[in-house]
Amino acid sequence: MITLRSPHEIDLMRRAGKITAAARALAGEMVRPGVTTHEIDSAVERFIRKQGAVPSFLHYQGYPASACISVNDEVIHGIPGKRVLKEGDIVSVDVGAYIGGFHGDCAATFPCGKISPEAQDLIDVTRQSFFEGIRWAKEGQRLQDISSAIQTYVESHGYSVVREYVGHGVGAKMHEPPEIPNFGRPGRGPRLLRGMTLAIEPMVNAGSAAIQQLSDGWTVKTLDGRWAAHYENTILITDGEPEILTAPAI
Ligand code: MF3
Ligand code: CO
Repeated sequence: MITLRSPHEIDLMRRAGKITAAARALAGEMVRPGVTTHEIDSAVERFIRKQGAVPSFLHYQGYPASACISVNDEVIHGIPGKRVLKEGDIVSVDVGAYIGGFHGDCAATFPCGKISPEAQDLIDVTRQSFFEGIRWAKEGQRLQDISSAIQTYVESHGYSVVREYVGHGVGAKMHEPPEIPNFGRPGRGPRLLRGMTLAIEPMVNAGSAAIQQLSDGWTVKTLDGRWAAHYENTILITDGEPEILTAPAI
């Protein structure tokens, strides 16, 4: 069952979303050569707690940090630690914040210093694929209209979408129905209704779609070693344009 949020619940989701988006922005500003992924994670946790919220990811199914920080060929779920970022890296940061009974969830890939044009293109296409997808995030459309638009855009740029991990409903729990694949066929899947809150999150590989999970139990890397990018926002389905609940402040 896909939960529909009341106006009051939507207000609470807006508050969670704002904090989550600000935490992502803070992390993005910290991405530069010489910084460790642990330093970014600590700052994210401090910021979220200072807002009166709780990091959604910390201890989720045993996850040991507040942010997922995935570098270069790491797709998602990278565990922050001693790794020192270096010029040319691309750094995916995924954050969640829980306040007032609701979660926000968002992610983006940031350049570390000067990066290659190829890496920048991967970041740009991944971000744009989200916006191509949410053109279909309207009452009356079907879920896979979003999925299909993301897939078509990504593949038209020669990249591939990850299959094993998908977007999801988000609200009182971080992961709620429905699953939102980044591949699919127009006209399939549940019909979208106003009040649905969804995390749309294309995970895009420069090379093949195949991934591997590391022995740390979390980190997901590309199998071919080519780089990957991630972009995610929590959105609200309305009777008109979708509202991005984790929109950047500026
Ligand atoms: N943001 C991720 C998602 O959308 C969740 C991270 S998994 C966690 O599914 F364990 F780190 F929380
Ligand atoms: Co998510």
